[in-house]
Amino acid sequence: MPTFSRRSFICGTAAVAALATVPAVAATGINTLANGKTEIDLAVNSALSTVGGVIELNTKKYGPVAVVRTSKSTKGFSVLSLSCPHAGVIVNQNNGGWFCKGHGSEFGLNGALKVGPAKTGLGAIKFTLTSKKLTIN
Ligand code: FES
Repeated sequence: MPTFSRRSFICGTAAVAALATVPAVAATGINTLANGKTEIDLAVNSALSTVGGVIELNTKKYGPVAVVRTSKSTKGFSVLSLSCPHAGVIVNQNNGGWFCKGHGSEFGLNGALKVGPAKTGLGAIKFTLTSKKLTIN
């Protein structure tokens, strides 16, 4: 049985709470490039300045996706497909994660599978970062 110190429990709880309390907002400052990539201006999406912040947008290449601020690191972002890996229903943010109304699958805010019937987490999408822009490849 794993043991947890009081400090690790409090730090872990705080990190989860921080990721669980910020509702997604629609993205702004979006530019679809000729090559199909989607460029997001980080300066105008203030939700992404906070750990746990989420923006949602539709992309030409992947359909609905979410950008999640996962840490304060300059590389602390993830991009998730919002299409449920079970049968493709679009998931919605719920209880600090994602819920699929298709058949009830649940995912963490980082896309990790919590409850099936899906067998995998939400798809992670590759992206590149500069200090000003996040580009979904
Ligand atoms: S499509 Fe999401 S659980 Fe079935």
